[in-house]
Amino acid sequence: MFSMETTTVPVQSTVTRYSPHARATIFHGDRLDLLKQIPDRTARLVITSPPYNIGKKYEKRLLFEHYLEQQEETLKAAHRALADNGSLCWQVGNHVSTDGEIFPLDIYIYQICKKLGMKLRNRIIWCFEHGLHCKNRLSGRYENIVWFTKGDDYVFNLDTIRVPQKYPGKKAFKGPRKGQYTCNPLGKNPGDVWVIPNVKHNHVEKTAHPCQFPIELVERLILALTNENDLVVDPYLGVGSAACAAILHKRRAAGADLSAEYLELAKQRIELATQGKLPRRPLGKLVYVPNPGDTITKRPKELGQGNGRHPYDQSHLLFA
Ligand SMILES: C[S@@+](CC[C@H](N)C(=O)[O-])C[C@H]1O[C@@H](n2cnc3c(N)ncnc32)[C@H](O)[C@@H]1O
Repeated sequence: MFSMETTTVPVQSTVTRYSPHARATIFHGDRLDLLKQIPDRTARLVITSPPYNIGKKYEKRLLFEHYLEQQEETLKAAHRALADNGSLCWQVGNHVSTDGEIFPLDIYIYQICKKLGMKLRNRIIWCFEHGLHCKNRLSGRYENIVWFTKGDDYVFNLDTIRVPQKYPGKKAFKGPRKGQYTCNPLGKNPGDVWVIPNVKHNHVEKTAHPCQFPIELVERLILALTNENDLVVDPYLGVGSAACAAILHKRRAAGADLSAEYLELAKQRIELATQGKLPRRPLGKLVYVPNPGDTITKRPKELGQGNGRHPYDQSHLLFA
């Protein structure tokens, strides 16, 4: 059995063999070549954000059908490696075709996972406030995480991810619990709409990767869906955000990427996570809301009246 204390090599250098004894396997190569080396039913969580087939610098645009076939191959291989009480989380946005039509990827991933016999437990909406400004449709400000389980019996540690209540001082006003606090003292269920900033240039976690996970997004899922020493796999590792979250919470990690450049960054970040020195936005930190008195929030006179909306109207901000 793997033990954090007895592992001599905390982080494997970039490799082409999966090691069940390493704290983190950083695999240089195709996701299928890693997944096929992971023994059946040994990963408690497979969590990833695949390419969206939108022509980012780390992917080639494919025919959409061909792209979906590749996703199906990845999902099949992940399903085989998954423990019977394990979970699979696919974080996706939209594929956008060259004529601007959008294809929400979770719709297609859902159909593949159902074919594999998995069960959908949540479709989490990840909201963020910043991103590209669209001209021909509304700007996209959310993506999804579809959380599937392999079966009906699955790890779900709700207490580890509870959040503070809005009204912790609320008391029952009638019934047998009259006068008692109504809230769970451990906090409330965080719900399925998560407002977490995406990793842009001024984010403390920003690296050279154009589309990395915020660590706090993965952290919450790792805490809820795995236990200490469990194996967490990310088939499209990028700069290793999922592996970092796993290591920070004493889980094991394995992930693959085709890019040696990203894997070098992943290795550095995982090592910092191991030493407790990884710069990151802490889980549960409130989203910054600018103070209406700040100079930067005031509309300069030379910009005129704009659309006449009240300058303090923050209805464009999520949950402001
Ligand atoms: C959306 S990014 C994942 C970013 C990652 N979540 C992070 O936080 O850094 C997708 C990654 O998949 C990698 N990739 C693309 N095709 C791959 C393949 N066939 N096998 C493994 N990795 C691949 C790309 O290099 C890219 O880094």
